[in-house]
Amino acid sequence: MALKYITDESFKTNAKDKKILARFDFNVPMDKNDSTKIADTTRIDEAIETIQAILELKPKKLVIMSHFGRPNGKVDPKYSLEPVAKYLAEKLGQEVLLTETALDRGLKTLLVLNESKIIMLQNLRFHPEEENNDRDFARTLSTYGDLFVFDAFGAAHRKHASTYEINAFFKNKAYGGLLLKREIEALDRVVKDPVKPFVAIVGGAKVSDKIKIIEMLLVSVDKLLIGGAMAYPFLKAQGHSIGNSLCSDDDIVLARRILGTPSKGKIVLPSDHMTSSTFGGAPEDNGQINIPDGKIGLDIGPSTLQNFTDHLRSAKTVLWNGPMGLFENPNFAKGTLGIAKVLSSLDAFTLVGGGDSVNAVKMSGLASKMSHISTGGGASLEYIENGTLPGIQALKFGID
Ligand code: 3PG
Ligand code: MG
Repeated sequence: MALKYITDESFKTNAKDKKILARFDFNVPMDKNDSTKIADTTRIDEAIETIQAILELKPKKLVIMSHFGRPNGKVDPKYSLEPVAKYLAEKLGQEVLLTETALDRGLKTLLVLNESKIIMLQNLRFHPEEENNDRDFARTLSTYGDLFVFDAFGAAHRKHASTYEINAFFKNKAYGGLLLKREIEALDRVVKDPVKPFVAIVGGAKVSDKIKIIEMLLVSVDKLLIGGAMAYPFLKAQGHSIGNSLCSDDDIVLARRILGTPSKGKIVLPSDHMTSSTFGGAPEDNGQINIPDGKIGLDIGPSTLQNFTDHLRSAKTVLWNGPMGLFENPNFAKGTLGIAKVLSSLDAFTLVGGGDSVNAVKMSGLASKMSHISTGGGASLEYIENGTLPGIQALKFGID
């Protein structure tokens, strides 16, 4: 069974007067100073098109479900989906009724009444069964819908009851949403036969987190630009001094392994750095590849940014994952924001994935200039590594 989307005729003709159960990833970051305020609504905004497309088909009910944060299988008011339900209601200009729990006794009645078209289940992760991919829990959830829509790309790398097992109960009745479609199409432009030259930029902190993606990318890229703390184990493995920069021994071993492969010629490392004596202290232009003892590398330097820019100029496909430094601090944001600026000016397919680089692009005000910004951090990484995700596989082929 191939992946069918809600644009499929079988969905369009069947949805009327039916109960549609839809899984989204509304795991949005909250404002640090105001726990009722959503700091970034992108994941909800990006799902609106799917919700509207479903509502246009005049279903009897739309039952929305999502997880939120990591409450570890216990009810915790801090992780209530209430701010999300409120925001969604405002955006849609329609009531969104939030249930007390995903297993509310009153739900059965609610589903047959004519009022409350849109129902949102309270945080699925208040129940340990969700993350345990529990079959009975999935079965109960499945009773809330005649048809199932999966649009939670950001959670598609999780094999949970609402992302995976639930498909057992919707044979030939499971459909992908429009956000899932956009994400898959964009990622496939990078994963399958990317238009060349293909340049990837990888940053962030730990080599071990991204070792698989680096090895995968080295097969298909023309150049792999490595910045941020990711670069220090590579520089160290090449025999350069990195001062007190972030770097684990394990990561040096991994970096050495990668530098020992024939693809090493595709790797471009920083040639200078912005440093400081303390983490986030006064910035200094180090001016060379070696970082002296007592100094910490916190951003790529100006020559490196120029060199990375030169490599990006002719690119036709660009993947960016991970910042070039401590971009939250303006003293060490030039590298990351510089990359965002270059990408925004290219005549290329530019895909940004991974929480931190996405935040950086949003901070730069250049988000609209990118071809695609993924709503999934972990999910986009795993998709690039494996070419698919458990939530997509289960939706595509069903499970028994
Ligand atoms: C995410 O933000 O990464 C997804 O919503 C999945 O959440 P998780 O990392 O807590 O499983
Ligand atoms: Mg995550």
